[in-house]
Amino acid sequence: MKLRKENILIVDDDLHILEMLQRHLSSWNFHTYRAITVKEAVSILRDSRIDLLITDLKMPKIDGYELIKFVSEHYPGVPRLIITGYPSVQGSLKAIKSGAVGYLTKPFTKEELKTSVEKSLLSNNEALTKKDRRQIPSKSNAGDFKDLVGKSNALGRIFQIIERVKDNKATILITGESGTGKELIARSIHYSGKYKQQAFVPVNCGGIPESLLEAELFGYVKGAFTGADGARDGFFQAADGGTLFLDEIANSSLAVQTRLLRALQEKEVTKVGSRKSEKIDLRIIAATNGNLKEMVQKGSFREDLYYRLTVVDIELPPLRERKIDIPRLVEKFLFKYGVEYKDRLIGISPEALEIMKRYNWPGNIRELENIVQRAVIMCDGRVETENLPDALKYTIDFPDEDFLPLREQETRYLRKVLAHYGNNKTKAAEILGITRKTLREKLKQ
Ligand SMILES: Nc1ncnc2c1ncn2[C@@H]1O[C@H](COP(=O)(O)OP(=O)(O)OP(=O)(O)O)[C@@H](O)[C@H]1O
Ligand SMILES: [Mg+2]
Repeated sequence: MKLRKENILIVDDDLHILEMLQRHLSSWNFHTYRAITVKEAVSILRDSRIDLLITDLKMPKIDGYELIKFVSEHYPGVPRLIITGYPSVQGSLKAIKSGAVGYLTKPFTKEELKTSVEKSLLSNNEALTKKDRRQIPSKSNAGDFKDLVGKSNALGRIFQIIERVKDNKATILITGESGTGKELIARSIHYSGKYKQQAFVPVNCGGIPESLLEAELFGYVKGAFTGADGARDGFFQAADGGTLFLDEIANSSLAVQTRLLRALQEKEVTKVGSRKSEKIDLRIIAATNGNLKEMVQKGSFREDLYYRLTVVDIELPPLRERKIDIPRLVEKFLFKYGVEYKDRLIGISPEALEIMKRYNWPGNIRELENIVQRAVIMCDGRVETENLPDALKYTIDFPDEDFLPLREQETRYLRKVLAHYGNNKTKAAEILGITRKTLREKLKQ
């Protein structure tokens, strides 16, 4: 028999019920996903295309009502069918209010289940307005990189690159502003590829004193320098077979660059103080928020190393150039911190989300994550405008037809520039060509 195209997600903390439901649904050729907690259910919703949600109401921590509410807010195209062992008028009212389309009480017959499922699926087709339909999330990401959220074209291209490089050992350079997700991309490449069982070793080239970097990278032998009272492996040996992530590569000294180049060319490393080299076989992913090309021109970065590193080049655009990714990122962090701090799912008001969509995010995704985290802690069940810092609110754009007195226009412009630079007055004053003091005075007026 042909498999039906609908995917059904079933959520229940009772494994027997889950198995019974799955047995029945499979016998009608539906494809099923199972989750025993709401947390699991939400991540399945994020990563798969679901056509119907069937959920129990009473579950520990986050209950079915909250899940129903969350799904009707974020996945309005997915109909919601409730199964409960405790029927009550109040309960069913509450369920319908939170957005359920169907309600089935235990115990039920196989036939009753079938009727409810078919009816719920139908309700989806009939009742959905065109607008809702557009919001039905398709499969969230092009690839299967669970932590990476976003549907911008820029990210789509990056997913394609990851797909191509994850199983080979070509050297990769990831560039992008601070907080754009360079490390996350590096990890996704490693953990989605066939070397994922091997080590992923991150090294912050900017965090190790220059005098120690060489010993840290390549290891040392006993007596190599004062204090070296035994031999030690370096990061290269630790990452052998896997991935070495050289973060902030722009901060490595010319001497270290020379050693790195040799290691890359010859695929072998020599411990400090030793004359014997060791073969190594690993993938290097380097990352920087600096401009290596410019550094090459200025002579502070070796050109030959630059070319060695950029066999594959991944450029992560800043968040302000892929604002379409903002809602999904907000949703991801709302879920993460809602569960972490409040043991429940936290929503966001349309106004607050609108403000977040307009802001320019100089600190990129890391800044967005911090702001959502803080808002979740401060809010009362739902993130509202007042839970967001002022710097965000000032970014609101005003339509062009809004003619304003010069002074007011000036104030708004000042605030916009300020917000763009994360409220950094020094930077804003510099861009505006005025002193910090003048800026402060103008704002005070
Ligand atoms: N596409 C994404 N989807 C979900 N989370 C993301 C995404 N990109 C980045 N993040 C999250 O944003 C935060 C910052 O990412 P990451 O540390 O990888 O940035 P970075 O470019 O290495 O920053 P820095 O230059 O400051 O070191 C992390 O918590 C990461 O999980
Ligand atoms: Mg980083």
